[in-house]
Order: sequence, then C-alpha cells, then structure tokens
Amino acid sequence: MKKILAGLDVGTSKVCALVAECSTEGDLALLGYGLAPCAGLRKGVVVNIEATVEAIRAALREAEKTAAVRIGAVIVGIAGAHIRGLNSHGIVAVRGGEVGARDVERVIDAARAVAIPLDREVLHVLPQQFAVDDQEGVRDPIGMAGVRLEARIHIVTAAQSYSQNLAKCCERAGASPTEMVFEPLAAANAALFAEERELGVALVDIGGGTTGVIVFHGGTVMHAVVLPVGGSHVSADVATGLRTPLAEAEQLKIAYGASTVRVVGQDESVRVAGVGGREPRPIARRLLAEIIGPRMEEILTLVRRELERSGAFQNLVSGVVLVGGTSLLEGTQELAEQVFNLPIRRGLPANLAGMPEDLMKPMYATAAGLVLHGAHAAPGAGFGKPGRLGRLRTLMGEWVREFF
Ligand SMILES: Nc1ncnc2c1ncn2[C@@H]1O[C@H](COP(=O)(O)OP(=O)(O)OP(=O)(O)O)[C@@H](O)[C@H]1O
Ligand SMILES: [Mg+2]
Repeated sequence: MKKILAGLDVGTSKVCALVAECSTEGDLALLGYGLAPCAGLRKGVVVNIEATVEAIRAALREAEKTAAVRIGAVIVGIAGAHIRGLNSHGIVAVRGGEVGARDVERVIDAARAVAIPLDREVLHVLPQQFAVDDQEGVRDPIGMAGVRLEARIHIVTAAQSYSQNLAKCCERAGASPTEMVFEPLAAANAALFAEERELGVALVDIGGGTTGVIVFHGGTVMHAVVLPVGGSHVSADVATGLRTPLAEAEQLKIAYGASTVRVVGQDESVRVAGVGGREPRPIARRLLAEIIGPRMEEILTLVRRELERSGAFQNLVSGVVLVGGTSLLEGTQELAEQVFNLPIRRGLPANLAGMPEDLMKPMYATAAGLVLHGAHAAPGAGFGKPGRLGRLRTLMGEWVREFF
C-alpha cells in the first residue's frame, strides 16, 4: 500500500511543504509542494500564532493543489536556540547470555534516564554505539553473546512550550504533526553523503533567524546545537549601514550581497533606495560586502567556537557542509574555508529523487529531509506516545539510517 508523506519546514522566513508518495518498498515519488513567506517566527520559534497558522495553511493548500491529495498529517521540523543535544550512556545486564531486542530497548531506556527537566521534551534518542562486555564500537548488538550491554546515545531535547506552540499552529492549519524532527537532522538526511557521516562532518544550516549545527562521526550524531543568528541579522546590518528600508536591504543583499570583499570587483556599483522618499544613490558593491562580511564571519566563528567547545571540531575529516538560504551569499564558501580551515561544500537536497529544479536549493534541504525521515521511519514511529515496539523500531530505524 502506498502512503502519503508530507514534510513541513516552518522556518523564520518561509514555510515549505513537500508531499510525496511512499511505496511499501520505501521508494518515494514527489507529488507537489507549497511555499509561503512567514512572519510568525523569531529566531526559529513561534511568536505569532495567527501569522504562523496563515503561512502553514497557505503552503499546505498550495501543496495539496499541486499534488492533488489531501494532507492530514505532517512531519514537522523544529528549530530554535532552546534545542539542546547531550550525550549519555547506560549499562544493563544481558538476560539469557545473548543480547536480544528487549536488552537493547532496556539499555537505551537506561541511557535516556538522565535528568531531563519536566519542561523539556525528548525529540530524538540517537544510538551512537554499543559495547558488549569488553567489545566496544558495536553497531548492532542483537544476537551477540555477553553478560553486559552498554549503550552510548545522543539525546536531542526541546522546550515543551515551544514545541507545543508549533504543534498547535499545525493543528490549527488543518494538519496534525505526527512527528517533530530537529531541522538540521532533517537537512542532513537530504544533503549529506554516508561517507561524510562516517568520516566526520558538520552540517551548518544558516537560515533566516537561526544557524543550526549537527555533527556526525562514525555514522552517528555527536553534537547538535542551534545558534540564534541568521540571515535576518545580515539584512538588518545592511539596512542600518546603508540607511535604507529593511525590505530594500533584503533585496540588495540577495541580489548583490557578498560575504567577503575578495569576490567583489573594485569598480562594481549598485543603486540603493533612500529612506523617506530620498533619491536612489549609487554605492560601491564593496561597501555592501564590507557590511555583510563581519556579520557572516561572526556567525561562522560562533559555529567554530561551539564545535571546538564540544570537542567535535577535531573529528571533522570531511569538513563542513553549508545549507540554508544564507549560504547562498556569494563568497560564503571562501569565508568559511578561512574561518574553519577545513574543506567546505554547499549542500543541496540531492538525496530526494525528483526534486523540482526550483527546489534544488540549500534552503529546501530541511523540507526534503523531513519527507526522507518519514519514508525511513518504521510504522508506529511517531511524535507523542508510540508503542513499545514502534519505539524500538524507531530507535533501530534511526540507527540503520545513520549508517546506510
Ligand atoms: N540568494 C540569496 N543570497 C543571500 N541570501 C539569501 C538568498 N536567498 C535567501 N537568502 C536569505 O536566506 C534566509 C532564509 O533562509 P532559509 O529559507 O534557509 O531560512 P528559514 O528556514 O526560513 O529560517 P530558519 O531556519 O532560521 O528558521 C533569509 O535571511 C534570506 O535573506
Ligand atoms: Mg530553516
């Protein structure tokens, strides 16, 4: 039986809904999409329910129209600086001398039994590796002989009030959120290669109001964090620096902006509208890059510091993959190479076959990854209270997904 999957990326600048049909074999066929500008979020979290509901509704309606299906449920992305990732581990005694599915479930329960405040909810429990007796680095312990099973996991949590507001917006727009996925984790599904996850890579999603970071090493998630900075700060700097309205600054940034003066010619010039009806005036494009450059360097430096602080930096053999709309700023790759001193590439939603040309851009990696997440998740996996078997399958599903 075929099932309909809808991914909903509720971003600080836009809402993107993607609908696909998933066959029993797990093959995906994209049916349609919808986009709507969104003014209901700040720094990745909902601050205006009404505006967010409207944007979600518009994007869903458009997606339904192009796909000619009704969307009742969505896999929704969540971002914001309230999201935290932490590493944990647990140990249990193996029953009956051979590790069974039940032992894996118990050890993961033990590992996740860390003190998580009541006002936070667990978004993901991502197994990193298991140890059976003295044998470390085990990926699938089921069937192995031993008496002691240990698990290392990464737990991603969100502030409950923020996730509830986002869920409420989806419900009010007519779609119930079956699962909430940390946005950079979704983007990684769409934009990273399996070898990169193995060798060590950081996916950095520089969006409108947030910069999300997720680090993979040995095929699993090592670190996750969201910084409350993004492209809207860049636009605000341009508006202030050039004394021009914000909407004009946004357009100028997109059309002529650059993250470093090194990619701008000496004599390039652009026209800037004045505030309060003043005449448009020409300015050197280098000036625009001089305003944008320091902010982009600040964002990338914050990411580097975060990676160093967490100890993940030294594992980035495959370097950094940039996604998100702000990564489109000319010269961002060059600037990132300088800040990280690592190989840098721009990520696209390439892992989802059949993406329309219009969506083959770094800001649509999250939406594509949400659909991929839905396609790989086992039946019963879900946001809320999945059954025990469903939950184990989800864990193993995550696990398998990290590797293959
Ligand atoms: N071609 C471009 N050049 C430079 N910046 C761009 C370009 N296109 C989009 N942007 C910027 O990218 C940002 C939006 O990116 P994106 O769509 O990834 O964010 P979002 O998902 O809505 O927000 P967030 O993930 O932070 O909640 C805006 O600040 C926008 O100005
Ligand atoms: Mg985003």
